[in-house]
Amino acid sequence: MTKAAAIEGYIKGMVQAAVEEYLKQQEPAKSRKRYVIANWKMNKDRASIEAYLKDFTQGVQSEQVILCPAAPYLSTVSSLLQELNSSIKLGAQNVHHADQGSFTGEVSADMLIDFHCEYVLIGHSERRQQGECDSSIHHKLAQSKNKGLIPILCVGEQLADYEQARSLEVITQQLVHALHGLPPQPLIIAYEPVWAIGTGRTPTVAEIEHIHQGIRYALTELYDELTASQTSILYGGSVQADSAEKFKHSMEIDGLLVGGASLQADRFTEIVRAFL
Ligand code: PGA
Repeated sequence: MTKAAAIEGYIKGMVQAAVEEYLKQQEPAKSRKRYVIANWKMNKDRASIEAYLKDFTQGVQSEQVILCPAAPYLSTVSSLLQELNSSIKLGAQNVHHADQGSFTGEVSADMLIDFHCEYVLIGHSERRQQGECDSSIHHKLAQSKNKGLIPILCVGEQLADYEQARSLEVITQQLVHALHGLPPQPLIIAYEPVWAIGTGRTPTVAEIEHIHQGIRYALTELYDELTASQTSILYGGSVQADSAEKFKHSMEIDGLLVGGASLQADRFTEIVRAFL
């Protein structure tokens, strides 16, 4: 290499480092914990989970990433993550409010904890559509907090509410019913407009920010400003890698809850990389 080429390379390196440093400083200072969560819903089997985890854990190692498989595979995912020495966390899609008893088909918080589950989705709109009511969501939250599971409380409006500009009103009601009388932490909130789930439609970043600010206001009223400023609020609904990249730059979006696009290891890896 000539001396001139070496000097040019050196200067290029210095300029690149300076630009990267500048861009880092432009990144919004985010003090809240950030998450990217996969909700696999009622999908996958043992073989596809094994293949997925082998692939995914090679590209992603982060305790900010949480996988929520269907209940029968919690133990499979838990053992594989341990075998692979992975820091990725485990979440469940549901929990029962009682400690134990005659509740056919249900799963208790202690059972989840037995399989190293640390998080649980509560009040997902697909469960609300199957009849899960505010009171049941409230009791499940109480039980999770009591047992030390970190609940991810899902809230979101129907299309008709959105079209009538009632989103915040509906979401505030959901929050109040779910949280009244419960201690503030631990808690993660996921805003998932029902009309955006699995449809390919998403609200604009500005619309999401407006709702997240409204949720923070509700948390201030229910608890205090500190709780409101410390609670991570995630967005979910048709998230893809390109939208994840957009959401990353918002001060109000602390994480993503991903359904369909989390089912393939490569697509979910792209989303995690774009956001975290
Ligand atoms: P989606 O689902 O990403 O497929 O829209 C999100 C969810 O239901 O949590």
